[in-house]
Amino acid sequence: MTDNATETGIDPAIRDQLALALDVDDLVAAIRLGRAFKDYFGVAKIGLELYSAAGPEAIGTISDLGYKIFLDLKLHDIPTTVGKAARVLGAFGVQYLTMHAHGGVDMLRAGVQGLEEGAENAGLEPPQSLAITVLTSDGEAPPHIMPKRVMLAAEAGCSGIVCAVGDLEEAHHYAPRLTRVTPGIRLSGDNADDQARAASPGDALTGGSDLLVVGRAVTRADDPIAAAQAIHASAASAG
Ligand code: C5P
Repeated sequence: MTDNATETGIDPAIRDQLALALDVDDLVAAIRLGRAFKDYFGVAKIGLELYSAAGPEAIGTISDLGYKIFLDLKLHDIPTTVGKAARVLGAFGVQYLTMHAHGGVDMLRAGVQGLEEGAENAGLEPPQSLAITVLTSDGEAPPHIMPKRVMLAAEAGCSGIVCAVGDLEEAHHYAPRLTRVTPGIRLSGDNADDQARAASPGDALTGGSDLLVVGRAVTRADDPIAAAQAIHASAASAG
């Protein structure tokens, strides 16, 4: 923790449960966000947008700022291709990598193995493979799909899943040992933007989330630092 974080009374345990979504199309902008919010977030999420703009350099650069890297590329292809891609990405030093559960158990298993092998070959700690259950944009997914994908993730040996806060209880029921990651985090009074099922940090943690992905609630706030502090206060209320 930096001196500044000590002064602001930030709880490092909560900080490690918060991932900042670097949803920008330029590495310089991502570095600015990373520097500004280092005291409040332990994990940085690099998604398709930033990875398309900056490639693997984004991983090393943001990692050098002190963040764990959550690479949200949502891999979905034939098992061999996903396995090979995950092996490459595992060697870059990412702590989390996402894959679509929709790709099936063989694809997920190949991704899990590739990711572990890539990290091991590079002498790195084993990363976590996360299965995306249902995209929040998929309004047509029938209710039985979420539990089915949670079980696929567990069967394939994934470390965890990504799901909506509202699905946490059901996810825990079907796969209690999986790490649960939740986007859609908003403070009360925030604009929900395109998040159909937003929830507060406190509610996400109370519901059993292990890692909260936060983007616009902080990055688009009128006072981003005050918003980051409010995220911590809400998370601490779950305590
Ligand atoms: O909405 P927010 O800016 O907090 O989004 C943070 C992350 O949540 C995004 O990077 C994306 O991965 C995810 N997201 C989502 N569903 C949406 C919008 C964003 O799961 N409708």
